[in-house]
Amino acid sequence: MTYKSVKGTKDLLPKDTAAWLHVERVIREVMDAYRYGEIRTPAFEDTAVFARGIGEETDIVGKEMYTFTDKGGSSLTLRPEMTAPVIRAFIQHSMGEQTSINKLYYIGPMFRQERPQAGRFRQFHQFGFECIGQQSPVCDAEIIMMAAEIYRRLGIRFTLKINSVGDPTCRPQYRAALQEFLRDVHDDLSPESQRRAETNPMRVLDSKDPRDRELTAGAPEILDYLSDECRDHFHATLALLDAMGIAYEVDPRLVRGLDYYTMTAFEFVSADLGSQDALGGGGRYDGLVSQLGGKDTPAVGFAAGLERLLMVMDKNGYTFPEQSPRVYLVGMDENSRAWAFQQAVSLRRSGVSVELDYAERSVKAQMREANRLGARYVVLAGEAEMQTSTAQVKDMQEGTQESVEFERLAEYFIQVPQSSDTMENS
Ligand code: HAM
Repeated sequence: MTYKSVKGTKDLLPKDTAAWLHVERVIREVMDAYRYGEIRTPAFEDTAVFARGIGEETDIVGKEMYTFTDKGGSSLTLRPEMTAPVIRAFIQHSMGEQTSINKLYYIGPMFRQERPQAGRFRQFHQFGFECIGQQSPVCDAEIIMMAAEIYRRLGIRFTLKINSVGDPTCRPQYRAALQEFLRDVHDDLSPESQRRAETNPMRVLDSKDPRDRELTAGAPEILDYLSDECRDHFHATLALLDAMGIAYEVDPRLVRGLDYYTMTAFEFVSADLGSQDALGGGGRYDGLVSQLGGKDTPAVGFAAGLERLLMVMDKNGYTFPEQSPRVYLVGMDENSRAWAFQQAVSLRRSGVSVELDYAERSVKAQMREANRLGARYVVLAGEAEMQTSTAQVKDMQEGTQESVEFERLAEYFIQVPQSSDTMENS
C-alpha cells in the first residue's frame, strides 16, 4: 500500500520552495516599505466566523468549506480565506483601541473544497493585506498600489478591473431594480442563476454561462445607483490610481464571490492564466467588523493566490536567483577530506554556501558533481596543499586558478564576485 497526497493538494519540494521563498521575500520587502505588520492566525476557526463573515449564500460557505465537528462537539472550519479571521483577531485583541489604523499582512495556506483544475487547488496559499480603521480612498488606492508593486517586481503583467458595489444605503435600490430586470428573463437563466436571482442577484452578473451573460447584457448597472458618498469615494479612488499611472478597467459587472464588500471591489486578472484567470482580488468591507461583533470600523484589503502567481512567472520564464552552492570543497585523500569537512563548517559559519562530497568519491567524480551543481568556485586540497596550508581555488566561470592560504579562505570568498545569479527580471 502506498500513499499519495490528497487530491487538490501538493508537496512543495526544495526545487519548488526556492521560487516560493523568493516570492515571499519580495512580498515581505514591499510590506516592510509600506509598514504593514505580519499577522498569523490559527488554520481553523469557529465555523460561525466564516458563515457570518463571508455570507451564508456564497459558494465558499455553501459548498466549499472543510467543516468538521471536533471531539468536544464544536463546529470548526479550516480557513478558506483570511479576512474574517484577521477581523476576528482584530476585535479579540482590541487592536482598534490602540491605534486608529492597523495595517496587517499574511502569507499562508487556505482550504476550499473546489473541483481541482489548473490553478485551482483544495489547499492553496494566499498572501494578502488588510488596512483597518480608515475610510479614506487613499487606503483603497494604497492597497491596489501594493498589489501592483508586488506584481511589478515579479515581472507579472495584469489587467486591473474595478467597480463599486455600493453600500447599504444604495445597494437595496439597485438590488430591487436588478431583481425586477431578472424576473423578465428568469425562465431562460441557468438553474444556478435562477436560484441566485432570489438569494444574491448581483452574482447573476458574474455567471460564466454564455446564455446568462447574453440575457443580462442590458441589466441595470450599479454605477447608476450609487449614493453620492459611494460615487465620490469611487471617483476619488480612481483619481488616485490615475495619478499613480495605474491602468484599470471599470467593470460594472464585477461582483466578488464574498458578501462583505462595500464600495470598492477589484480584481487583478492575467491573460497568462487559463479559465482561472484571477490573480487576486479585494475591496472595501466597512460592515464586517461590526458584523463580527466589533465596533463599526471601516477596512479595505486584498488577497492573491501564490500558486497562480508562480504559474505566471513560470510561463514568463522568470529567472530566479541562483540556487547553486558558491563553493565546492574537493578532498583528495583521507587527510584532506577531514580538513574539507572542518573547512566547510567554518566557511558556512561565515555565511558562504558550501557543498562537499559525502560518498568518498574520486576527485574526478567530485569535479563532475561540482559542475552539475553549478558551483562557482572549487577548492582543491590534497597532500601538497595540506603541507603548505594553501588550497587551490578554481573559478569555474572564468577558468582561472589561484593559491589561497587556508586561513584566508573565508575572507577570500566574501570578497570575490558572487555566483552568476544575475537578476534579469527587474
Ligand atoms: P478571493 O477572491 O476568494 O478573495 O481569493 C483571492 C485569490 O485567492 C484568488 O484571486 C485566487 O488567486 C486565489 N484562490 C482562491 N481560491 C483558490 C483555489 N481554490 N486555488 C488556488 N487559488 C485560489 C479572498 O479570499 C478575500 N479574502 C480577499 C480580500 C482580502 N478581500 C479583502 N481583503
